[in-house]
Order: sequence, then C-alpha cells, then structure tokens
Amino acid sequence: MIEDQLKAVIRDIPDFPKPGIVFKDITPLLQHSELVELAVQEFARRLENIEFDVIAGIESRGFLFGFLLAQYMKKPFIPIRKQGKLPYHTVSESYKLEYGQATIEMHEDAFPKGTKVLLHDDLLATGGTVVAASKLIEKVGGSVAGYTFVISLDFLQSAGRLTRFNENIISLVG
Ligand code: PRP
Ligand code: ADE
Repeated sequence: MIEDQLKAVIRDIPDFPKPGIVFKDITPLLQHSELVELAVQEFARRLENIEFDVIAGIESRGFLFGFLLAQYMKKPFIPIRKQGKLPYHTVSESYKLEYGQATIEMHEDAFPKGTKVLLHDDLLATGGTVVAASKLIEKVGGSVAGYTFVISLDFLQSAGRLTRFNENIISLVG
C-alpha cells in the first residue's frame, strides 16, 4: 500500500523546530523518484471525480508535490507564498501554525472569478495554513474544490476546520 511505502521513508524528527514538536521530514521521500511518481498518480486517481480548474500550492513544501501534480494533471499551478515574496499586487492572510505565526499571500489576478481551486500542501497539522489559503481563494472570487496533503496529523480534528470550504479532503498518510 502506498501509505505504508510513504510512512517507511518519512522521518520523525523530535523537538524540531521547537521542543515538543515531532517534525515530519519528507526530504528522504524526495530521493525516491518512483515513490514520488506513485504518490502523484495516487493523488490523481483519488481526484478523478473532483472537478477543478487549477491547483494552488503553499510555500514551500506545498510547491514540491503541488507543482508535480499540476503538471501531471495538465492544470495551471498557482503559488501561494510567504509574505513579501510575490512581485505583483497581492491579497494576504495571517494565521497561526503548530509552531508559530505567519502571513501568506497570493497574486490578486492569480485566476478569474468563479475558478475552482484544488489546494495542495505537504502536511495538515492545525489546519491554520490551509484555512488562510482558502480565505485567500475566496477573497479573489474563487472557490475551494478540495484539498490534497501528503500527510495529515490528527486528521479528524483538523479536517473539521476545512469542511466549511469543501469536504473533499485527500491525504495519503494519516
Ligand atoms: C508547514 C507545512 C504546512 C503547515 C502545516 O509549513 O508545510 O504548510 O506547516 O501546519 P498547520 O496545519 O498547523 O498550518 P511551514 O510554515 O513550516 O513552511 P515550509 O513549508 O516553508 O517549511
Ligand atoms: N508543519 C506543522 N507541523 C508540522 C510537523 N509536525 N511536521 C512537519 N511540518 C509541520
């Protein structure tokens, strides 16, 4: 099963970046190109019945699989970036995450109004990041068509924060 294959290569790093956090390190996975390919194919298979126009990925780890998946599914890719990185006019949202506070931004002309956006990130922890990203999408007149994550921690609790935007939540691990 792909979940077991992924679990076998994702490392737990205790107390990073702060005491008490068990950090899920996906960098070893990136060295297994066949498994990366399988993961992308699995996302695509689970997305078969979900209609969407574009994929948005969240900086930085959300760019890794988000862009690959967009290319594989022949969809445009929208980068959602940390504050101050995007060069054109942006919309922005601040949020709390498992180990801090951050602001993310998206170009205000990233897609036309009415666009259905699949949101991708590597990992769902508290859900703060993707809730903020979902608000950005709605701010510019788009809607969230679903979510994909490589890993979700405590799936039920965090996923509950996302269902008001969309109930299509796909996670390969957890
Ligand atoms: C991590 C991860 C998710 C987010 C999940 O990103 O990649 O984006 O935290 O946490 P949450 O569900 O509690 O919001 P981080 O901000 O560490 O940035 P990075 O991808 O640049 O490492
Ligand atoms: N982002 C938020 N919590 C995380 C965790 N435990 N591991 C990796 N990335 C994270």
